[in-house]
Amino acid sequence: MIVAVDGPTASGKGTIARAIADHFGLPVLDTGLLYRAVGYQTQLNHGDPDNAADALAACDFPDSLLGDPALRYESTGSLASRASVHPAVRAALFQRQVDFANQPGGAVLDGRDIGTVIAPHADAKLFVTASAEERARRRHAEMHGRGVEVSYEAVLADIHARDARDTGRADAPLLRADDAMLLDNSGMSVADGIAAAIAFVDEKVRRPS
Ligand code: C5P
Repeated sequence: MIVAVDGPTASGKGTIARAIADHFGLPVLDTGLLYRAVGYQTQLNHGDPDNAADALAACDFPDSLLGDPALRYESTGSLASRASVHPAVRAALFQRQVDFANQPGGAVLDGRDIGTVIAPHADAKLFVTASAEERARRRHAEMHGRGVEVSYEAVLADIHARDARDTGRADAPLLRADDAMLLDNSGMSVADGIAAAIAFVDEKVRRPS
């Protein structure tokens, strides 16, 4: 069984993808981490993520980079969002994600274009979202908890910028697949969001359409 979980930044899609994977005993891939590695490697190379050649050169980052805590930084998310605009970068990361999706036994992948590009044949697709203000509130609280001094307004501005870049790009924009379940978790607890997602996948498995 392949489960595709897409959605904008700070929507909680990673938490939902991991919970689905745990519940059904499937491996999970956070595809955002691959783009984050490219963005970060571009910086390590003293390159410019807006430059396609620089971003492409960073696609052969070492696997060990995927465990680097710096990939989780907010600034790395912005580098990733800029590097991921280039079709050559998306093409370079394509096969790795397709292979993960198609492994025997199935998999869960979360990202922006899983249900539309990487695994359009997925058995269950979810599009997880929440209002920009709600996502900014969550991200701000989480950063505050880690001791990062940042204003709510700055976090909200970054979320708007990331949304605009992810939905506005020509190649594989953030888009809800026609057959994806829309899960807007604004005002919903994390546990309720997870329960709704698992119930949907469960139903899909029992009654595939
Ligand atoms: O999901 P995460 O916030 O870690 O992703 C970082 C950035 O990588 C996103 O803003 C997006 O631009 C890019 N990305 C993408 N396609 C994916 C996953 C992430 O373009 N499948």
